[in-house]
Amino acid sequence: MRFFTLMTRKIAYSIPIQCQKTLPVFSFLLEVVWKTSKRSMLFFFIVMIVAGSCTALEAWAITEFINGLHDTEHHLFFWFLCLIGSMLLKEVAMSAQPLIAGQLNENVGEYLKTRCYEKASSLDLIGFDSADYYDSLERSKQASNKDIGSTIESVARLSIHFIEFIVVIIAVAHIHAYAAILLLIGVTPVALSLKKANHAFIQVNYQQSPLQRQLNYWRDLSTKKESAAELRLFGLSNFFLNRWKTISHRKIDDMYKAKKKVANETLLSFLGVEILIGVVIGALVFSAVYGTISIGLLVATLYLLNRFEEIVRMTSFYIDDISRFYNDFQYLPDFLKHNDIEKPRKKVSPRIADAILEFKDVSFTYPGQTKPAIHHINLTIHSGETIAVVGENGAGKSTIAKLFLNLYEPTYGTIVVNGLRLNETDWQPHANAVFQNYMRYHLTVRENIGIGSITDIHNDEKMYQAAKETDFLQDIRFLKQGLNTMLGHLFSDGKDLSGGQWQKIALVRSNFRDSPFVVFDEPAASLDPKTEFQLYHRLRDMAMEKTVLFITHRLGSAQLADRIIFLSNGTILEEGSHEKLMHQNGAYARLYKLQSSWYTTKEAGF
Ligand SMILES: Nc1ncnc2c1ncn2[C@@H]1O[C@H](COP(=O)(O)OP(=O)(O)OP(=O)(O)O)[C@@H](O)[C@H]1O
Ligand SMILES: [Mg+2]
Repeated sequence: MRFFTLMTRKIAYSIPIQCQKTLPVFSFLLEVVWKTSKRSMLFFFIVMIVAGSCTALEAWAITEFINGLHDTEHHLFFWFLCLIGSMLLKEVAMSAQPLIAGQLNENVGEYLKTRCYEKASSLDLIGFDSADYYDSLERSKQASNKDIGSTIESVARLSIHFIEFIVVIIAVAHIHAYAAILLLIGVTPVALSLKKANHAFIQVNYQQSPLQRQLNYWRDLSTKKESAAELRLFGLSNFFLNRWKTISHRKIDDMYKAKKKVANETLLSFLGVEILIGVVIGALVFSAVYGTISIGLLVATLYLLNRFEEIVRMTSFYIDDISRFYNDFQYLPDFLKHNDIEKPRKKVSPRIADAILEFKDVSFTYPGQTKPAIHHINLTIHSGETIAVVGENGAGKSTIAKLFLNLYEPTYGTIVVNGLRLNETDWQPHANAVFQNYMRYHLTVRENIGIGSITDIHNDEKMYQAAKETDFLQDIRFLKQGLNTMLGHLFSDGKDLSGGQWQKIALVRSNFRDSPFVVFDEPAASLDPKTEFQLYHRLRDMAMEKTVLFITHRLGSAQLADRIIFLSNGTILEEGSHEKLMHQNGAYARLYKLQSSWYTTKEAGF
């Protein structure tokens, strides 16, 4: 009895804690199901209740039918029909469930995937610099891909089993209260071991999320075009495959160990249940022999006890299914709600004409890093200025560009535009950029350019003009379907471009957007000398109308800027016009002379 009390107390303590954790997750799921599939859900619950009640009806019909065998007054045929009817009804209800569950799965899955993609595209860019973000994204993607219908089916079947469980306990208690108590004692260790198993799976699952991402990464390296050339050239296929296999084996091993542990623990408790059922059956037969219960009641209870055994077994199966679902799904509500509260700030439209942008003692450290990428930067940029940012690799040039675009927020200091904090203004519609790692969209030429300013996507005249200014018009003319040519290799009829042509498309896109603040991060890295020359001279033409920040390693082009910022180790080392910096004869002048020596002397001067 003491054991039973301890067990009950343990369950009683753990239930509220479990509920606290699981209820918000399941109520979120319920909310989504209700939002997307009201009718299916209602139908589903009706079917579930019908199926659950059928077991009670069957047991009742069996009792009456067998007891009526010796009694001519009894409505034998009626109870026989009841028995067959309830069995058929249950079968119909059980087979309708997968159909409704399938529909629910489609609706809910689509809704969650949409929310997941919306959330991923609305999160701050800074999130993408953290491994934790990728892990939570991976978990959420897995969650939205889950077979929600089958889990709802498991929940439904579990609920049916719960109703059946109550029916069995009441029926047995009706005959022998002690027998019912014995059955309850029997299922207690099962419930505890299932809870433990659930906990073990949650832990393994959580730990496996980074492993899954690594697996995906190594799989992509072996299968994606981007890595295909080096894979062949360097003979990397075994290297990639072995890495994938090592991680995959680790993942399988961890899961196997968790499953083995769980199987050992649950086996013992199931054996206990079998023994108790045996004892209860013995007691019932004994009662029937001494006439305390009728034969009909005995047969019906034996039928129920048979169900009881199946209920306990299947319950563990469904709980396992639900907890696996819960393991993945539990992170989704938080991921979808992430940042929802802080985000909606009212943005002020900045004054664009004569705007002055100031970096005031700005530092920025990437998530998980200790050393700032840039520190204590003070910089004032006037409207219409063209500024060249130069410096060694890793000096912080691209970081400054992203801060200028308000894609990152300073970790220290402020950036203001005309006295307003940049992050409180509606800045991004006025800015655009060609990034160092610009995008190659596997879309048509029109879409590749048009996404720069989606409302003008059908304005051919503007598009051709933007292409002309970026020396891409000729390339479009060479394409069979002109603006409607599909680019990239992912889809049929796609035409892949050269590295330089892709970069030119990115430049046309930016030109098409036509915003007053523009960032070019190494815009000429893949361009031929003629196109590069044209590009930089176009930058000079743009200078009067736009504020341009361009990052370059070709110091010859920096001469075109009104001002040059020379960055080193995240700080501004030198600042001024080309003439001033050359006169200063510092780091900029040394680099400039080093580069120009390529063109003036035979020896490069290393
Ligand atoms: N996502 C990131 N997470 C952590 N550190 C980063 C990240 N991106 C850049 N860094 C670090 O921040 C520093 C500045 O990087 P940044 O990309 O701004 O340099 P850069 O001057 O543009 O270099 P490059 O000329 O090679 O493009 C470097 O030390 C780099 O290692
Ligand atoms: Mg860079």
